[in-house]
Parts: sequence; C-alpha cells; structure tokens
Amino acid sequence: MPQTQHRSSPDRPIIVAPSLLAADFSRLGEEVRAIEAAGADWLHLDVMDGHFVPNITFGPQVLKALRPHSRLPFDVHLMIAPVDPYVVAFAEAGADHISFHPEAGPHAHRTLQLIRSLGKKCGLVLNPATPIEAVEWAMDLVDMLMVMTVNPGFGGQAFIPSQLPKIAALRRLIELTGRPIALQVDGAIAPSMQGKETARQVIEAGADTLVAGSAVFGAPDYGAVIAGLRADRAWT
Ligand code: DX5
Ligand code: ZN
Repeated sequence: MPQTQHRSSPDRPIIVAPSLLAADFSRLGEEVRAIEAAGADWLHLDVMDGHFVPNITFGPQVLKALRPHSRLPFDVHLMIAPVDPYVVAFAEAGADHISFHPEAGPHAHRTLQLIRSLGKKCGLVLNPATPIEAVEWAMDLVDMLMVMTVNPGFGGQAFIPSQLPKIAALRRLIELTGRPIALQVDGAIAPSMQGKETARQVIEAGADTLVAGSAVFGAPDYGAVIAGLRADRAWT
C-alpha cells in the first residue's frame, strides 16, 4: 500500500464544510441559509487581515450578523496575526471552532489554551511548507488539524499534491493519540462529479473533513456538490 493510502472506515463520516469565501458577498445571509438547507455539516469562515495573508475578508461583526441565519457550527479559520487579541471577539460573535496558523504568533500553545478556556473547539492549520512537527507537541490540546493544499489567501487556486503524504502522516499521528481530532483539508477540494480528483485523493490520504469554496458556491446546485464530496469517500 503506498505511503499516502489510507482506508477510511464507515464509522468516520466525511464532514463537508463549505467556505463562505466563494459565496455571493452581497447576499451572505441568504447564502448561509441555502448552504445549510443543502446539507452542509459546518460553515467555514475565512478571516483574513491583509497582513498575515495578502487579502482582507471580514471580522467578528459579520459573524455576529450571520449567526441568527444558521444553526451550523461556525468553523472559523483565522488568517490573522496576532491572533490572541481577537479570540474573545470571535468566540462572542458565534464561532464554534477557532483555528489559526502556528506562524501567527510565538505562543501557539497559549492560544489553544485560550480558545479552549472559552468553551470553543480549537485547531492548528499547516501551510504547505509548514512541517507536521509544528503540531506534534499540541496533540493533547487540538480538536482539529487542517492541511492547506493551497497557499492561504484566495479561493480558486490550484491544488498542491505534495501535501498528500503530509495528510497521511498527520492521520498516523492522530491515530497514535487515540483522540477524536478532525483532520481537515482546505484548498482546491472538488468532487469527482466535477471531473476533479482532489476530494477522493485527500480522503484516501486520511482526511475526514473537506473545506470547499469554489467547488460548492460556484455550482448551481450546492446540495449535489456536497453529496458528491461525501460520495468520494474511499470505500465507495
Ligand atoms: C484559502 C481559504 C480557503 C478557500 C478555499 O485561504 O482558506 O478556505 O476558501 O477555496 P477553494 O475551495 O476555492 O480553493
Ligand atoms: Zn479556509
């Protein structure tokens, strides 16, 4: 069996987290309601500051405005530096999960503790060039790990296949802990029903949570794409 190969098991369902970054920003409330009705599991919210990444999106006030429109878990991906001064604001605005990049500050462990102290799930995100060692000594704290298969900052980029063995290595690390840590992949994820292999490849490598922006919000039928992403699980 090749190094990247991982047999998913039926007891670990695939979670689909559409990224609002690819939604129509002039109709955000409507888009959030539509994606919940289409069967999304989580709503992924990309927060960018024009400093940690070369793009600017939205902050806690937009989350707060969207919160009444959905009961989905809000999966907040912070691409900001520093992180700590904004964690309470995102928690109070309605974030359920808060993930950040270890490069965003010198004390990732403290930031994870801060997020947990607010009763929220916490995660670390690995850029394409960031080694898995960046999370190894935080495995007792994280609820989620996320592998970027594009460089963060923009939707609609090309998939970086060198990340597949990293996903497989993280899956092995997670299994060693015995903890229920979600393994997310973010960037250029699309289903085979769109003629793309990326969802299938990352699931085979060991991912259980798919973040997808343009594949979902760029399609006419959100529900069909969400179902298509789930259908790319390895044992089907
Ligand atoms: C990129 C963001 C992604 C983005 C993915 O920095 O973190 O969540 O929305 O967009 P697609 O799926 O179009 O690559
Ligand atoms: Zn993201």
